[in-house]
Amino acid sequence: MLNNLKPQAPDKILALMGEFRADPRDTKIDLGVGVYKDAEGRTPIMRAIHAAEKQMWDQETTKTYAGLAGQPEFHAAMAEMVLGAAYPADRLSCLSTVGGTGACRMGFELARMANPGCTVWASDPTWPNHLSILNFMGQAWKPYRYFDNATRAVDFDAMMADLAAVKAGDIVLLHGCCHNPTGANLTLEQWGVVADLFEKTGAIPMIDLAYQGFGDGLEEDAAGTRLIASRLPEVLIAASCSKNFGIYRERTGCLMVLGDAATQPVTQGTLAFLNRQTYSFPPYHGQALVTRVLTDKALRAEWEAELEEVRGGMLRLRQQLADELRKLSNSDRFDFVATHRGMFSRIGASPEQVETMKQNNAIYMVGDSRLNIAGLNDKTVPLLAQAIIDAGV
Ligand code: LMR
Repeated sequence: MLNNLKPQAPDKILALMGEFRADPRDTKIDLGVGVYKDAEGRTPIMRAIHAAEKQMWDQETTKTYAGLAGQPEFHAAMAEMVLGAAYPADRLSCLSTVGGTGACRMGFELARMANPGCTVWASDPTWPNHLSILNFMGQAWKPYRYFDNATRAVDFDAMMADLAAVKAGDIVLLHGCCHNPTGANLTLEQWGVVADLFEKTGAIPMIDLAYQGFGDGLEEDAAGTRLIASRLPEVLIAASCSKNFGIYRERTGCLMVLGDAATQPVTQGTLAFLNRQTYSFPPYHGQALVTRVLTDKALRAEWEAELEEVRGGMLRLRQQLADELRKLSNSDRFDFVATHRGMFSRIGASPEQVETMKQNNAIYMVGDSRLNIAGLNDKTVPLLAQAIIDAGV
């Protein structure tokens, strides 16, 4: 049996993590995987999460099974954070999942069950694992144009032209904020135009919200998602807690599905069924931490303050890098780095130039030239800028 297996192509982002670890050069700079790092290169446990863990250590009395679909209090806290306090609870079904990836996977599974013939439309480019999961599932998907390689901004006209071809019941995968891998995002006005189109065509949005709080702020980063949720009858949202709570390894995510009140019980039951068929109960610990942080006033204030520090740090690094590149290139062609939002920017280097920077400068970025801004610090910004110019980008 096992000799029938074929080697799988390694995930490029995860393979890069391994390559970086194996590089003996002490000057190496990791701008690969989307993990936040502070100026010392550490990925700290957030202060509020640490405090919540201490509370749990003292107060938790059992490790018996918890909710199959997850914890209702976690769902309520997440719905409020993502959709706002006035979210329509009677129309909402929620599933706790194994991270944001699990939420995406379960969203695709739900769509496939509800509409087996549907096509999933994904931005070109998108997070590579979206496409890998869809391929693995045998789920039909098509790309829609999104990023203008020349301006490094959203090509909204091309995006709308492609999305006009979406059939009723097809799923359109959108990044709620901090687009991965480009860093280029829709304006709120553009979100409104997308909603107009979907109202007309019957396309169903599925929003991947993996970086809420990393772009323009917690509320601001949810604005597009909230607009879509308020306008369209059916919406799927895959929210991750990995980045904004810094609990990557706890695997904590939430799939939210908005429909009508009449279909809600069956939708909720189907979500629980999907968990049961896949891994039974979702991880509990991360849900409990997030719930504590979001519902305890002091912990929440501490978390929001730290999230703002993280966000502000990334914005400062963006500005520093844009300034440095402006100086070295004697042009404004890299100014987009300062206007992009979130962890990533696609800087527009060719795969060969990315390889050159890895070989010559021990700078690791994903092959499509996505770089993780949070992997930089005051000392490495000038080194990166010089490497970009030296590589001829
Ligand atoms: C990334 O895009 O780097 C992150 O979402 C981590 C991952 O799982 O790929």
